[in-house]
Amino acid sequence: MGTARVVFDRWDGRYAERMSAIRSSAVRDLFAAASRPDIISLSGGMPEVSLVPTEAVARAAAAAIREHGTEALQYGSSEGRVQLREIIVELMAESGMRLKADDLIVTAGAQQALDLLAKIFIDPGDTIITEGPTYLGALQAFSAYQPNIVCIPMDDDGMRVDLLEAKLRELGPRGAKFIYTIPNFQNPAGVTLTPERRRKLVDLAREYDIPLIEDDPYGRLRFEGGHAKTLRALDEDVIYLGTTSKIFAPGLRLGWVAAPAPILAKLLLAKQAADLCGSAYAQVTAEKYFTGTRWRRVLQDLTRTYAERRDAMLEALAEHLPPEVRYTRPEGGFFVWVELPEFLDVKPLLAEAVEAGVTYVPGDAFFPDGRGRNCMRLAFCFAKPDDIREGVRRLAEVLEDRLELYRAFQAAGVLEGEAKSA
Ligand SMILES: Cc1ncc(COP(=O)(O)O)c(C=O)c1O
Repeated sequence: MGTARVVFDRWDGRYAERMSAIRSSAVRDLFAAASRPDIISLSGGMPEVSLVPTEAVARAAAAAIREHGTEALQYGSSEGRVQLREIIVELMAESGMRLKADDLIVTAGAQQALDLLAKIFIDPGDTIITEGPTYLGALQAFSAYQPNIVCIPMDDDGMRVDLLEAKLRELGPRGAKFIYTIPNFQNPAGVTLTPERRRKLVDLAREYDIPLIEDDPYGRLRFEGGHAKTLRALDEDVIYLGTTSKIFAPGLRLGWVAAPAPILAKLLLAKQAADLCGSAYAQVTAEKYFTGTRWRRVLQDLTRTYAERRDAMLEALAEHLPPEVRYTRPEGGFFVWVELPEFLDVKPLLAEAVEAGVTYVPGDAFFPDGRGRNCMRLAFCFAKPDDIREGVRRLAEVLEDRLELYRAFQAAGVLEGEAKSA
């Protein structure tokens, strides 16, 4: 599976050691298969950009050039345009976070912020803490700097903060460089951290004096239930990553990072080295788009659409999957995490799934160490409800043979230990 071609590389041996730690993104590898018309993609976390009014964006882009041409076409400041940062400050205020334009810098998506954070914090061999499973783009960004990644398990209430506490105690003071978390509708698990655990998490980060990174691309895509306070709203020292990718469009590559002044100064240096400055043209276009109210209706449409698709996926999973398969029930965002009995490895099944006309991302992509082989991430953001239902049906068919085998082994007592833990 995948598009990675094996080619003779006569430069082998010249590359930096760090390149051996970076794995290709399983999602990107699936891109070719996922875009075939006969295949229902439940793999990529692609936003439904067709709901974004292209006419409005075209007007914003044209106005960016017509009204601000010399700025939009010129190099800009490394921290990003103050006009856009002020808009971001207002957006964050709507989610209960108080800060000033000087407290954040604009980045090329939240992804660049992850890379910059890794660059300023991680030396080879440093320990960092993430949820397990976690966002694979973060694993890619962090791995390049050769850390030891410690994963804290989650349950339906998000990160097991009790296990985090035990781990921090074990590591001792300054034992980890940072903690990285996605509290809302986690990618890939779909779960959300409870308010009690949020409080405990920021308290622990303070107690152990460890930078806490909150990555929040999906926070505004809530389908039901009340919004929990962000970690940044609970503690101003939290490093907060935001993005316009899910509330507007990823094509502009606009995100941001808000952080305490000393950390922000380091991030700015790292950003200058990476790309001097972000695209002023994209920034002015976004300023135009976010001025006015149209984007709020678009965001409502997006949220409603994703909620319908989430419903379609959960209904289909309930209908087609047998009881030994567990899955999460996200209240927002893009993803459902599916867990099969432990002995099942979903990676080799992917080729069969593609053959049957459906894709998913095997769970081991979301761990640094090969765990998660019996799990898969399903994205409900992109396919239409009927396709989601059909995709889950196809997937269930592929899984059914293996589950039959599992049951037969279980009945024969071959999986004694396994049967107990499954
Ligand atoms: C948890 C998480 N963080 C960061 C990103 C990167 O987003 P951006 O498009 O802003 O780079 C994504 C994208 O899917 C994500 O899911």
